[in-house]
Amino acid sequence: MAGRFDEDDADQAAAKKVIKAAPSVPQAALANRKFMHRVVAWLAQAGVDQFVDVGTGIPTKPNVFEIAREYHPDAVVVGVDNDPLVLAHDRALLKGMPIVSGDVRRVDELIADLDEFIDWDRPVGVLLLAVLHFVTDEQDPAGIVRAFTGRMVPGSMVALSHLSSTGPKPVAVAQIEKLYRDETTAPGVARTHEQITNLFGRLGLVPPGVVPVQHWPCESGLLTDVPVLGGSAWCPTRWRIRLAEHWRGAAVAELPDEQDAGTDGWAGDGPDEAEVWAQRVGWWLACLTVWGLAPLWVPGPVRWACQRRRRGGRRDG
Ligand SMILES: C[S@@+](CC[C@H](N)C(=O)[O-])C[C@H]1O[C@@H](n2cnc3c(N)ncnc32)[C@H](O)[C@@H]1O
Repeated sequence: MAGRFDEDDADQAAAKKVIKAAPSVPQAALANRKFMHRVVAWLAQAGVDQFVDVGTGIPTKPNVFEIAREYHPDAVVVGVDNDPLVLAHDRALLKGMPIVSGDVRRVDELIADLDEFIDWDRPVGVLLLAVLHFVTDEQDPAGIVRAFTGRMVPGSMVALSHLSSTGPKPVAVAQIEKLYRDETTAPGVARTHEQITNLFGRLGLVPPGVVPVQHWPCESGLLTDVPVLGGSAWCPTRWRIRLAEHWRGAAVAELPDEQDAGTDGWAGDGPDEAEVWAQRVGWWLACLTVWGLAPLWVPGPVRWACQRRRRGGRRDG
């Protein structure tokens, strides 16, 4: 549907039914691919040179590794899929990248398989493009994102796109969901804008946030009535999250303890030692400044009253 090199008969038949229910699906699929081009270029320009493309799909051109290597000739790009037919196509056509057979719903297993290729101590870009709508709520798609970010250091990025039920034709979207439910082994779950945004959890969303893929990062194509929403977010350090949530008045107590770091989506942290010291030194400097400048701040009326008392005292003496 997105201009693939090849598609088999079963794919074609399923695709025809989906297109009958929602004729704009091919445009939505193409818009999603173009989003991939932009988001990969954006991540690469932000310095990311390792990518995991989960649910890589049958190849189109240019593919993730071709875009990433325009910016980083040695970029490592690993494709992951769970469909044997897709895997066969990918292995035949994507010579430039390792292809891993894996199921994102068994995310811990998958991450362990990726250890061979990915250095998790350096920033990584994890792409979950048009794949989490094959994961039901019970299978915890937000938990999948957290499992990845639990291995990722600050500076890493997650990009995802997702079929949405927030759009002008919810009936057509519901028909697509039904087709997937009845005719394929994979469920198709369209989610609302809010649900898709929540998949990012506490990651720092890159502006403009979660928007139709045609509008990321700015308007670059006509919207389709079957919306695919997308966004990208970075893994900040834990103390930035605390500060942000504190200022937003959110329940800071909900944040897991420092010793849980790595299970809630923040790899390598709490604040590392340097950050803790930077914060302490910052506080001390602030206190010293306030203390040192306090005399200048004593409000005028108080100073005036003191002077009067002193003068009065001298007269009495
Ligand atoms: C709609 S295609 C998206 C392809 C590509 N990411 C894109 O955005 O154009 C979804 C791909 O995800 C794969 N997929 C679906 N469920 C998956 C799962 N549980 N684990 C890994 N891959 C999955 C499918 O086999 C398919 O290749």
